[in-house]
Amino acid sequence: MRLVPVECLNGGEIIAKTIIDKDGSRLLAKNTSFKLYYKEKLLERGIDKIYIVDDLSEGIENKDVISEQVRLETIDLVKDMVSLFKATQQIDVHRLEDTAVRIIEEILNNKEILYDIVDIKAKDNYTYCHSVNVAVLCVMLGRKMGGNKSYLKKLAIGGLLHDFGKILVPDEVLNKPVKLSNQEYNLIKQHPLQGYHIFKEHPSLTPITKAMILMHHEQIGGKGYPLGLTGEKIPEAAKICAICDIFDAMTSKRIHRDPYTIIDTLNEMEKMTRYHLDSDIFKIFRSIICYYPVGTTVLLSDDTIAIVEKNKTEAINQPTVRVIYDLKSQQELFKRLDLVLHDDIKIQRELVPDEYMNNPAILRAMKK
Ligand SMILES: [Fe+2]
Ligand SMILES: [Fe+2]
Repeated sequence: MRLVPVECLNGGEIIAKTIIDKDGSRLLAKNTSFKLYYKEKLLERGIDKIYIVDDLSEGIENKDVISEQVRLETIDLVKDMVSLFKATQQIDVHRLEDTAVRIIEEILNNKEILYDIVDIKAKDNYTYCHSVNVAVLCVMLGRKMGGNKSYLKKLAIGGLLHDFGKILVPDEVLNKPVKLSNQEYNLIKQHPLQGYHIFKEHPSLTPITKAMILMHHEQIGGKGYPLGLTGEKIPEAAKICAICDIFDAMTSKRIHRDPYTIIDTLNEMEKMTRYHLDSDIFKIFRSIICYYPVGTTVLLSDDTIAIVEKNKTEAINQPTVRVIYDLKSQQELFKRLDLVLHDDIKIQRELVPDEYMNNPAILRAMKK
């Protein structure tokens, strides 16, 4: 499978990963054929790339960290929790715990701890998908740090609940497409404290989970909110949550901006380790995030175009790639290259559609 811009699709391609709609249902189901009229539907929801399977990408497998079923169930859980709480002020902690356990089991079943995927989410289902992603990333990072199952469960629940306090922020402020006024921004900044007040007396939730809800916007330099704590006073789990939260937020498309690439996100976050994020934990986080997830089309330093075929834990930015086109000779190619064995060739960057949409030779090479 590979990741292809929606603009490039001609119809008839096989969809390789289910696209989830804002209500948590399947907008496009995997293994079905792409129809041209889907294009508009996707673009208006802010989805500009999807995974497809075709001849060119045959044999390239991109395994999600959790299964589609568990992802959909978790999105449902988050949605149901919000409506249940709005109606009754209650939280179904048993269901929350069951889901956390299922997420952990799936992540622990993977041999490697690698986040090797571009999560495709519509701009209007950001809130639900974001909580699920943060939970998944927190568990992966916690596992890489050597955390036991019981710690991972607390991290998963904290990730799912970290922004729960946002239910008390009006939607028009949360989804405002333009810059917020100071007053509106202050309203949003209340969410960690509001979330904490909702859960603080809850006997089934642990102090670790509660710290994640309350302190995921604290900064090691002391300029965060709501408490302005400095590094040594911020619990580890809250630091983990802050890293996963920022990573998912920056790599997501929002109403007011396009997503950052993974590389740009990691580089920005690296700068934030001076005043915001814990640098030791961030170093570990960096080691589990694939710079170019499997299925990404990239430009190599020898002016060839390739699709990422396999990422490896030991050399995270030197995947095995499938080279498909040589820009210099304008020839189509088909060869496999392990960049660990060819360290003179580097990935320059992800290829963006503007570079090939008007180039018939490249499009031909990409079988489009
Ligand atoms: Fe938050
Ligand atoms: Fe968040």
